[in-house]
Amino acid sequence: MKIAVIGTGYVGLVTGTCLAETGNNVICVDIDAEKVAKMQQSIVPFYEPDLESLFKRNIANRTLTFTTNLAEAVKESLIIILALPTPPSEDGSADLSYVLNTAKAIGPMIDEYKIIVNKSTVPVGTADKVREAIASFARYEFDVVSNPEFLREGVAVNDFMKPSRVIVGTRSEKVKKVFTELYAPYMRQGERLIFMDERSAEITKYAANAFLATKISFMNEMAGLCEILGADIEQVRRGIGTDDRIGKQFLYAGIGYGGSCFPKDVQALARTATEIGGDFKIVDAVMKTNYAQREKFLDKVINYFSADLKGKKIAFWGLAFKPETDDLREAPSLYLINELLAEGVKIIAYDPVAMENTERLLGDRITYAKNQYEVLEDADALVIVTEWKNFRNPDFDLMIEKMKKKVIFDGRNLYNLERMQELGFYYNSIGRDI
Ligand code: UGA
Repeated sequence: MKIAVIGTGYVGLVTGTCLAETGNNVICVDIDAEKVAKMQQSIVPFYEPDLESLFKRNIANRTLTFTTNLAEAVKESLIIILALPTPPSEDGSADLSYVLNTAKAIGPMIDEYKIIVNKSTVPVGTADKVREAIASFARYEFDVVSNPEFLREGVAVNDFMKPSRVIVGTRSEKVKKVFTELYAPYMRQGERLIFMDERSAEITKYAANAFLATKISFMNEMAGLCEILGADIEQVRRGIGTDDRIGKQFLYAGIGYGGSCFPKDVQALARTATEIGGDFKIVDAVMKTNYAQREKFLDKVINYFSADLKGKKIAFWGLAFKPETDDLREAPSLYLINELLAEGVKIIAYDPVAMENTERLLGDRITYAKNQYEVLEDADALVIVTEWKNFRNPDFDLMIEKMKKKVIFDGRNLYNLERMQELGFYYNSIGRDI
């Protein structure tokens, strides 16, 4: 099939590449000419495991091409996928200007039947708005479909190639036929392709992200109780996760969720509820808990050093909002670093892939280390923010040798409590004994 993907962010580029991989002809469009030129030279613009080989192979096959020319891409394609940003507006609602302006531009370019697909996370009713925006200019028949994306950064290729489900919001029989064919290579069992109306598809995406965020905030609150009551959140997680109704995933207490999706989508859902005159109490609480979790973690560090905090050297392991990405959007590390800098702390940091992005944001306000041990040189404490694999089983003897003080604040519960006690660390983690 001939497909245009408008927007080459995470969702757009992974979608385009994975659709090309199963034999479709995909043209990716972006307004950023520099980025397009780089992609034409087979350079992936961000870090995502497993993407590069598929990306390069499909460019070489000419099944994946790039352009800044929207009209050309629309003309060539039956399916036009909008994967554009929907950043939060000042009031927390999703800003639809990228999506709607593109829809308006596409209208007059349509010269035969087309299927326009919303892949961005958009509030309920956006499919109708896109339809209106196109209809005011279009002279030919078209359909607008809501097809939200559920891929996770870090495992995006696998999530796209083997989706837990694909949601297609459409009432058009013609579209259902095309999408059944389009997604057939990714389906192990046909029932994971779920058709519904556009509005239900739109809100399904928010429901999924808000539910997962709720699981995380629930566990973070539970961790707070465990700390006071002398229980261990990791035991509790194992104890409840084995119940299939609860499930093992997304039960990890930590320093709160970050990234480009959960914070924005949970807020937008709360905003939608307010706009229609109601409120969504659970979602409001999820946001509050999430923010409080970072503050509580920061307080642990501040209280430990109390009056002696100023001038201390604190090392950071991990900066990205989660492992296997260089993405720093809404990363708890940035909050912690800024607050500690304001207290006069010296920060030295290491992350396996997010160093360049961090340097772009923080410049010389902090120091950057070449590896996970160099960062510990003379440190008064180590703060663990991202659970990269290479932090899970480190050389503790070397750590002890390098650090000035054996102090660890672990926001991801990476280590065994007894082991840390044996090694003589002051080890402060989440929802467990100190
Ligand atoms: C999330 C969803 O998982 C995807 O399904 C969705 O498609 C995507 O948002 C989106 O809307 O585009 P992502 O933001 O890439 O994906 O990352 P997650 O793996 O979901 O992690 C989000 C945050 O939750 C991270 O900060 C992570 O550290 C935190 N988290 C996750 C926890 O604190 N505890 C957990 O148990 C799991």
